Amino acid sequence: MKQKLLDKFAELFGDTEGVTAYFAPGRVNLIGEHTDYNGGHVFPCALTIGTYAVARKRNDRTINFFSINQSGKGLITTSLDDLTPSDAAGWTNYPKGIVWAFLGRGLDIPSGFDMVIGGDIPAGSGLSSSASLEVLTGFMLRDLFNIPDVTNIDLALIGQYSENNYNGMNCGIMDQFASAMGKKDNAILLDCATLEYEYAPISLKDAKIVVTNSKVKHSLVDSAYNDRRSSCEKALEELQTKVDIKTLGDLSEEEFEANKDAIKDEVRVRRAHHAVYENQRTIRAVEALKNGDIAEFGRLMNRSHISLRDDYETSCPECDVLAEEAWKIDGVIGSRITGGGFGGCTVSIVRDDAIENFKAALTAAYQKKCKLTPEFYVVSIGNGPVII
Ligand code: GLA
Repeated sequence: MKQKLLDKFAELFGDTEGVTAYFAPGRVNLIGEHTDYNGGHVFPCALTIGTYAVARKRNDRTINFFSINQSGKGLITTSLDDLTPSDAAGWTNYPKGIVWAFLGRGLDIPSGFDMVIGGDIPAGSGLSSSASLEVLTGFMLRDLFNIPDVTNIDLALIGQYSENNYNGMNCGIMDQFASAMGKKDNAILLDCATLEYEYAPISLKDAKIVVTNSKVKHSLVDSAYNDRRSSCEKALEELQTKVDIKTLGDLSEEEFEANKDAIKDEVRVRRAHHAVYENQRTIRAVEALKNGDIAEFGRLMNRSHISLRDDYETSCPECDVLAEEAWKIDGVIGSRITGGGFGGCTVSIVRDDAIENFKAALTAAYQKKCKLTPEFYVVSIGNGPVII
């Protein structure tokens, strides 16, 4: 990938002298879905696939972007003096938003730059290609313009800030945090209310994490996501008339059951139910993992899927088929939809000796029921952003 990007850079900008190459990972979330913006816990890990860039400072205020994944879009040019988001800017609204957020924090970006990017995260798979591009851009700016005070957690926060305020997607902190703070062979238990985190080694004995791409992405994803978030905010306000809490993540299941009558709408009860129970499931799942109880971890993953399907309603028929069929296959320890939802991927834990059968059986069932062929990735857990 690096060589491809360097070749393109030379073709576009004359040579590659003084160019630096960067990488930031995508992520998969093992459990703790739609809990981040509800002050709960998440348990994602960074992947070894992600987004790459080669870049160099310029002597003027021009910023040039080129993506080898979207080469049809050509060179997209803007300037430090023109950072308003626009439809025409397409994918470059992500890196532009990061430049905008750096400047908004008073960080000095004295000149423009040339940036050629490429990625190996399948498009629309829900493995956080956009968060990886945000973290990558922040990591690159920090290096190019020598801004050492920005930590990797800052890179995650800047990415989320920009996505919320520049790109109009009200996401939580999980994806950017997982990308910026990834650690090889570890998942990250993150308390999204405090940003306290701990790494948990993923040793699944004789099993692996398998991501299955449904190959569907339903429309209106961002608006449905923002809608879930505002339902939970409303439910929280209603609960606060009875209990002294700051987020839904503050509630145990029992406290929720005792106070849920404060929520005046049945749909909102289900949304909040998911947020509260999923948070507790995540804490329990990590405990189970620490105790070597992978079977319990898998059961909690399955329950997470059911809750996302029935209460939070962010699954979709195709991902339901993938998870439900996976549950029937011998050697599958757990399986659930992962990420924002409405398409994208499921994540499963599958025994090593069952992986080939898992792929074949799931492909057959999915083709039969959904007329689509899934794609499988046996996941390796990687580090956060690096210079390559
Ligand atoms: C998307 C968002 C995250 C998180 C997940 C759901 O990936 O970007 O912040 O809310 O959905 O868990």
